[in-house]
Amino acid sequence: MVNLKEQVGLKAAEFVKDGMIVGLGTGSTAYYFVQELGRRVQEEGLSIVGVTTSNATSEHAASLGIPLKSIDEVPYVDVTVDGADEVDGAFNGIKGGGAALLMEKIVAVNSKDCIWIVDESKVVETLGAFKLPVEVVQYGAENLFRAFEEKGYRPSFRMKDGEKLVTDMKNYIIDLDLREIPDADALANELDHTVGVVEHGLFIQLVSKVIVGYPDGPRFLEKH
Ligand code: A5P
Repeated sequence: MVNLKEQVGLKAAEFVKDGMIVGLGTGSTAYYFVQELGRRVQEEGLSIVGVTTSNATSEHAASLGIPLKSIDEVPYVDVTVDGADEVDGAFNGIKGGGAALLMEKIVAVNSKDCIWIVDESKVVETLGAFKLPVEVVQYGAENLFRAFEEKGYRPSFRMKDGEKLVTDMKNYIIDLDLREIPDADALANELDHTVGVVEHGLFIQLVSKVIVGYPDGPRFLEKH
């Protein structure tokens, strides 16, 4: 059986050229992209600098010998390749299933170009079946949780080993079970203006290219 995540990871690596500063995404799909860049660095002498979007990706990339810098050490990123949890026809998406949404969004907004790599199961008509991750500061998080409950957002704290998960940036994640997000712009705007919310997993108009994996080969979608 074709590994669709590997297929799109390899395809995206074709966009990486010598000398680039490359944003390295997080998750099981971006894993293959990072793996392929590591192979090219080792076997072909590819010269790049990676900017990672999570501690997990930093460890992976470093283990492959990819030179790394933090986002603050580079003026911009040439291209970032990352996975997504859902993507719709307008190239909007949900990210954060791996709890890395804050670093991912910071790297994305500092990137000249962003490419998402997803398998066919991630393409949706309307966002929202995937629970929307919202990264919140720890202080006041319970009250924020109750406020989300009152709004009918069906919140749940992301847990790990019986405790609230703490992100790489030392915050909590509240997942909102919205089922359907009819107006992603409006919700993003509301969350942007909610005190205590550091960032949310709605990525609106941040990518112009999506590579979708299908059993008969990857399809490249570009927004014009
Ligand atoms: C990490 O926080 C996420 O945004 C991932 O990029 C997203 O969850 C996709 O992950 P997979 O490629 O593992 O499905």
